[in-house]
Amino acid sequence: MSITNHTSKALPENIPPNVITLPQTAQLEALYTIIRDKETSRGDFIFYTDRIIRLLVEEGLNHLPVVPRTVETPTGAKYEGVGFEGRICGVSILRAGEAMEAGLREVCRSVRIGKILIQRDEETTLPKLFYSKFPSDIASRYVLLLDPMLATGGSAMKAVEVLQSEGVPEERIIFINLISSPEGLKKFCERFPSLKIITGWIDEGLNEKAYIIPGLGDFGERRYCQ
Ligand code: URA
Repeated sequence: MSITNHTSKALPENIPPNVITLPQTAQLEALYTIIRDKETSRGDFIFYTDRIIRLLVEEGLNHLPVVPRTVETPTGAKYEGVGFEGRICGVSILRAGEAMEAGLREVCRSVRIGKILIQRDEETTLPKLFYSKFPSDIASRYVLLLDPMLATGGSAMKAVEVLQSEGVPEERIIFINLISSPEGLKKFCERFPSLKIITGWIDEGLNEKAYIIPGLGDFGERRYCQ
């Protein structure tokens, strides 16, 4: 048996350039092993998904542009540092994305958060917008779009379209999720090549019911219902 602090799992090949994964450490894999386990209690599922969400949000903030900012320290010296260029807001895709809001608030105090509800239209089978609420100045903000699972990508792509119709350019959206399918990533990145995706793990694929494999099952069920 060998002991290492890096996971033995390799990232899939041909990941689109605008996809950023968390560092694939053994610690991260241990967290994913817990949340994937069907025997994990709801309390532990919440605790460990929250830990991953925090890492994802921190990584998302690494991709926001900064501008020079000089401050004076209590010693009287000047420090030439940086500050974030613009303001941000979160937008959660209901309902599972709401679970990521607290993680964003922990890192960005009093951050504005919008919401968007997309469901399958029973007639057309296409994703349809049912509800949205955004900060009135969303067009001038960077948007962290929150949804834990990128499976087929249908809802997330619809959410980006809605944000664009509110005046948010693609380049100012960062989509954050815990687990992605390669199929969903490919479709999403072909459609929105300038948008960044921060994902914790890229899984093997989708099953016939569009669940991510190996995945973790239904995120919303496990977080809210067990
Ligand atoms: N949503 C989930 O909660 N799980 C999946 O595997 C896919 C979409």
